[in-house]
Amino acid sequence: MSKIALVTGASAGFGAAISQRLVADGYTVIGAARRLDRLQSLKSELGDAFFPLVMDVTDAASVDQGCAWIEQQFQGLDLLVNNAGLALGVAPAQEASMVDWERMIATNILGLTRLVHVVLPGMVKRNQGHIINIGSTAGDYPYPGGNVYGATKAFVRQLSLNLRADLFGTRVRVTNIEPGLCGGTEFSLVRLGDDQRAAAVYDGADPLTADDVADAVVWAATRPARVNINSIELMPVSQSFAGLKIHREP
Ligand SMILES: NC(=O)c1ccc[n+]([C@@H]2O[C@H](COP(=O)([O-])OP(=O)(O)OC[C@H]3O[C@@H](n4cnc5c(N)ncnc54)[C@H](OP(=O)(O)O)[C@@H]3O)[C@@H](O)[C@H]2O)c1
Repeated sequence: MSKIALVTGASAGFGAAISQRLVADGYTVIGAARRLDRLQSLKSELGDAFFPLVMDVTDAASVDQGCAWIEQQFQGLDLLVNNAGLALGVAPAQEASMVDWERMIATNILGLTRLVHVVLPGMVKRNQGHIINIGSTAGDYPYPGGNVYGATKAFVRQLSLNLRADLFGTRVRVTNIEPGLCGGTEFSLVRLGDDQRAAAVYDGADPLTADDVADAVVWAATRPARVNINSIELMPVSQSFAGLKIHREP
């Protein structure tokens, strides 16, 4: 019997690449997102092992219905990849949009948490399963304009660790994957709203690719059942750390 995985945000970027890699590894993958046409074109590439599922992670009813369908069709999940997420804007906190902040919190925190809440009891009951959350280096290292986006990913990191504390004594695994700068996805277009500004983010940088992230996810998922990968932080070689800044009065 092939293992069953739910990948959220499968219609683009990391989620599509993770779905491809998992199917190639023999998993049956349910790919969830809001854009059905994108999921259907992934299905035409991946075939019978891929099941498109329309799900808006910010909508409790949509998550509950989708997960109930999975339970009925597949009798539970072996792997949840909590990947759906977004950043909106790069304005400093004092100028940022509250609407953008609410949407990031609704998607990256509440959406991810809701999926954990729905899926975890079944995994604990079956005493097996793996939740892989997609965090970000933005959850570890502050940068100007990262404000609420980085804070949502810090939540993902701490939730992942706290889940492990609660799951002590079970065989359920939890991993947080924290990529740095990654190109070739819709992330910067969604964040900045225009192609030119989005392209400029990666100019000359040789960023990570969605396949690099999918590699990390599939590696963590395919370790022996006794091994829990707590976190993986990956960056392109071209990205490093900024120093602390000191503002000096003239
Ligand atoms: N790219 C990077 O540099 C980077 C670095 C670190 C971490 N990350 C994180 O990695 C994850 C994926 O990023 P990406 O680069 O692959 O971005 P992307 O290409 O924009 O893909 C985001 C995916 O999330 C889905 N999504 C967004 N809102 C949703 C909602 N309410 N319900 C269901 N699905 C939703 C989108 O599908 P629909 O629009 O069809 O719903 C899309 O499939 C995110 O959590 C992001 O924060 C990205």
